[in-house]
Amino acid sequence: MNVTLITGTTSGIGEALAHQLAAKKHNLLLVARTEKKLKEQSQYLSSQFGIVADFIVADLGKPGGAFYVYEQAKKKNLNVNILVNNAGIGSSGEFVTNNLQSELELLQLNNSSLVALCSLFLADMKSTGSGTIINVGSMASFFPIPYMSVYAASKMFVRSFTQALTEECKPYGIKVMLFCPGFTSTNFMNTSANNNAWGKILTQGAIEQTPEQVAVQVIKALERRKSIHVSGFQNAMSAKLGSLIPSTTLARVFAQRKRKEMGL
Ligand SMILES: NC(=O)c1ccc[n+]([C@@H]2O[C@H](COP(=O)([O-])OP(=O)(O)OC[C@H]3O[C@@H](n4cnc5c(N)ncnc54)[C@H](OP(=O)(O)O)[C@@H]3O)[C@@H](O)[C@H]2O)c1
Repeated sequence: MNVTLITGTTSGIGEALAHQLAAKKHNLLLVARTEKKLKEQSQYLSSQFGIVADFIVADLGKPGGAFYVYEQAKKKNLNVNILVNNAGIGSSGEFVTNNLQSELELLQLNNSSLVALCSLFLADMKSTGSGTIINVGSMASFFPIPYMSVYAASKMFVRSFTQALTEECKPYGIKVMLFCPGFTSTNFMNTSANNNAWGKILTQGAIEQTPEQVAVQVIKALERRKSIHVSGFQNAMSAKLGSLIPSTTLARVFAQRKRKEMGL
């Protein structure tokens, strides 16, 4: 059976996307760490929308996580024809004082596991000659962000990797899309690595979308078979305008402004 695998469905954008794709009759394979929520979610989506919704409990912040997900999908005899690499975490603060272990886990989740999942499922998609991969980047994919340095770099990696993969996969009829949300009202900023003085300053005044609005945009972009999509008109404009300014200038001005706002 074909399924859409979405990582990070227990809250935020992934949860809204799972709901909206279930309403469009996608069979789903949900992945996150919180077993209780995954169980409730898959039961609810199956009964509400008459689809098959299964789940895998996995920690993609650990090196073996992606391989475990792939093995479990195979054991369940599920063919992942759409892969949505959505799970991701952030971190805010001065790099030198940030917790190194957390930053390394961030890279494992946002980058290494995403690469591993793409590699494992892409091999199957190539052999069947069809499939779609959606990698979730960010507005941070377009600029260096001082005081969110590792997160922004991880999302720039997602952008570069995904755009390259889009082209490599074209001869095989496999669609690869980079989807970039802007600031979204989710649990993203509520983690210990993000919910701090720097996090508050960094997100001050940002244009905010709800996860449901973002999920609508993902589906529209998927249906239009887009290769890259920035969620929301204003975010798309900011990404375009930002690309006209040298990144060294952007980083310098951003850092100066944020230090001033922090009273440093
Ligand atoms: N919110 C924003 O402002 C914003 C802006 C731009 C881009 N994004 C991107 O959008 C994506 C979704 O973020 P969100 O805002 O929806 O965040 P969220 O509400 O915090 O949801 C994150 C999801 O990822 C899962 N997750 C976290 N760590 C995991 C791990 N180690 N292994 C497996 N799953 C894990 C969480 O589930 P469990 O805790 O159950 O594992 C949760 O379901 C991320 O890639 C983020 O970078 C968000």
